[in-house]
Amino acid sequence: MKKRVLVSGGAGYIGSHVTVELIAAGYEVVVADNMSNCDMTCFEGVKKITGRDDIPFEKIDCCDSAAVDKLFSDYAIDAVIHFAAFKAVGESVAEPLKYYRNNLLSFLNILEAAKSHSGCNVLFSSSATVYGEAETLPVTESTPRMPATSPYGNTKQMSEDILRDVVFATAKYDGKDGQWPVKGIALRYFNPMGAHPSALIGELPRGVPNNLVPFITQTAIGKRECLSIFGNDYPTADGTCLRDYIDVVDLAKAHVAAVSRMVEGKMKEDYEIFNIGTGRPVSVYELVTAFEKVNGLKLNYKFAPRRPGDVVAIWADTSLANKELGWKAERTLEQTLASAWAWEKHLAENA
Ligand code: UD1
Repeated sequence: MKKRVLVSGGAGYIGSHVTVELIAAGYEVVVADNMSNCDMTCFEGVKKITGRDDIPFEKIDCCDSAAVDKLFSDYAIDAVIHFAAFKAVGESVAEPLKYYRNNLLSFLNILEAAKSHSGCNVLFSSSATVYGEAETLPVTESTPRMPATSPYGNTKQMSEDILRDVVFATAKYDGKDGQWPVKGIALRYFNPMGAHPSALIGELPRGVPNNLVPFITQTAIGKRECLSIFGNDYPTADGTCLRDYIDVVDLAKAHVAAVSRMVEGKMKEDYEIFNIGTGRPVSVYELVTAFEKVNGLKLNYKFAPRRPGDVVAIWADTSLANKELGWKAERTLEQTLASAWAWEKHLAENA
């Protein structure tokens, strides 16, 4: 029988790409989303790409513990991938309670439900933000985490720790008293970007984008006047920050590999962490010029002061994920930047 995966936040940017790849890999998927930061565009796109009109969709808020528990009772769930969280770093600084309440409570509810239902594995979407300004690069999974610089980052660190503790504490359960062991994987994403090659799903930022690639594509299409490159006096070759930009489809495939590892009983530890990136540092300036070149256009940009809170450089050592998950980022920077532009044009044509 097919294994079933619950994707919380499955109508969002990464969740929709993961749903597509899970279905392609032969999983049944249940999507749960409260639609607080998306509309049905991506879920409709998922249905078109997969040719599946019958993917169960549950409009629930994971902060509602009864609704989450009911979901686990209604469907036999083998694994849950938890995306349902707020993700704007600046907003989290301004409204920490909103972030702590939403991001932590929703995850606690998922874990409570997983613990009360047999055989449930939990995959948590963590972030390279947990490393902060790392002392050695590239970062491996054992590079020490630095104190979080935002409530958003703190919720990622805290959620990793909560998952680890729950996995440890539940290992002794055997179903008596209705409590079951939970196994967990945290994937630390570097900088996700791009869109599905079909241009039917992609990132849908609300308001002015904070992240680089949506700001680039919106500037190219004329929604924004000018891209500001934050800082060109960093100690890097061209003075701009270095990041590890990971294609969202490659990222989605890493989730399938991690889910398979869990449900097929191939984990080496009951709680595991993997970096999900390309292992290739790219500067902001390089990214901008690659975008211009691959899409044959000129971008209006200027150099601006550094953005507070930015780290100079971070990129992943991905050897653990390559070896243990049998996964490797495959798409080129050019393919990904072309897909991001195709998605922005698709949005403009369908506005
Ligand atoms: C941020 C978050 C990270 C989160 C990720 C994806 C921080 C410290 N990190 O990463 O936790 O997981 O977004 O949501 O906030 N840039 C410009 N101009 C722009 C926008 C960005 O020059 O208009 C530069 C930034 O200064 C940075 C790079 O582009 O050097 C990438 O920025 P961004 O896309 O916002 O991602 P991060 O800050 O790396």
